[in-house]
Amino acid sequence: MPVIDAEALLAWYRANRRVLPWREEITPYRVWISEIMLQQTRVEAVKDYYRRFLDALPTVYDLASVPDELLMKLWQGLGYYSRARNLKRAATEIVSRFGGELPRSAAELLSLPGIGRYTAAAIASIAFGERIAAVDGNVLRVYARFTGDESDILEDATKRKFEAAITADMPCAGSDCGDFTQAMIELGATVCLPKGEPKCDVCPLCDACVARRSGKTADLPVKRKKRDRRIEERTVLLLRCGDRFGLMKRPDEGLLASLYEPINLLGALPEEEIRAWLSARGISHGDITDVGEAVHIFTHIEWRMHGYLIDVSTIPSSAEVMLATVREMDSEYAIPSAYRYFVRKMKAL
Ligand code: ADE
Repeated sequence: MPVIDAEALLAWYRANRRVLPWREEITPYRVWISEIMLQQTRVEAVKDYYRRFLDALPTVYDLASVPDELLMKLWQGLGYYSRARNLKRAATEIVSRFGGELPRSAAELLSLPGIGRYTAAAIASIAFGERIAAVDGNVLRVYARFTGDESDILEDATKRKFEAAITADMPCAGSDCGDFTQAMIELGATVCLPKGEPKCDVCPLCDACVARRSGKTADLPVKRKKRDRRIEERTVLLLRCGDRFGLMKRPDEGLLASLYEPINLLGALPEEEIRAWLSARGISHGDITDVGEAVHIFTHIEWRMHGYLIDVSTIPSSAEVMLATVREMDSEYAIPSAYRYFVRKMKAL
C-alpha cells in the first residue's frame, strides 16, 4: 500500500492553500466554529457567516450565554439549525465541565453535542496537534484513489480502515498534524475533484497514486449502488369456506420464513389461470370477486398485490391450505403486515 508523502503534501499545501478566514488565526474556539459551519456547507457560503459569528460571539462564554434569537439570527440562511443549537449546548458544557477551555483530545471532544468522529479529529489535529486523521467525504475520495481501494466509502468499516491508515501516515504530533489534516481536505476540494475530473498534473501525491497509475480515477471512490428492488406482481386469493379463510404456511427459510399468509401466487394472474390453479388442487369454487390492490415494500422486493375473494365448498387436505377464522388469525397465526390490507378485508366480510 502506498504511503502518503507527508513532506510533499505539506509543502504543496503551504504553497497553494486558499486564504480562508479560519486559517488566519488558529484557536480551538475558531477551529470548532468553522468546522461546524463547514459541515454540509460550501466554503464560499460559510466565509461571511463565520466572520459575523466571530464578531458577535468572540469567546466560548459569549456563545454559552447568547440569547437564542441572536443565535438564530446569526445562523439564518446557513441551514441545519440543529448545528447552532448544539454549538450553544456544547459551549455551556465547555464552561461547566472544562472550565471554559475546549478539551484537547478527540476522545473528549467527541463527548460534546454536535461533534462526531470527523469534527473531533479535525479540531484535535488542527487546534491541538493530535496525530489523528479527520476523514470526511473529500478525504475518503483522495485516499480511495491514492490507494486504489475499491471498498464502499459509505460503509463505516471503510471509514475506520481509512482513519487508521491515514493516521499512520501523518507526521508526529504538532502543528504539522493540523496542516496535514487541512492539506488532505484542500487536496480533495481543489485537486482530487469528484466526478472523474482530478487535476493529477498538479497533485503532490500523483507519483504514488494507484488510481492515477492504473487509469482508474474515474472509477474511484466506490459508493454503494442504490439498492436494487425487484418489483413482483402478485395474486392474492382469499378463499372463503363458511366463516373461515384459507391460509398457507411459508417455507422455513427465506422471506417471511414460517409465517402464514393467504394464497399468494407469483404474477398478475387472469381469471382462467386462477381457476386452473384451484382446479389443479381439487378446490371447487364459485365466483371470483375483485377485492382491490395493495403494495408492500421489503428491502429487496416490492410486492404489488391484487386480491380476489373466492367462495369454496371444501379444500382437500392435499392442497396444504388450512382454514382459520379471523379471530384465530389474530390469536394463533402469525400473518405478516404485508397482508394488512387483505386481513382487514377478511374481517370486514
Ligand atoms: N472543510 C472542512 N474543514 C475545512 C477546512 N479546515 N478548510 C477548508 N474546508 C474545510
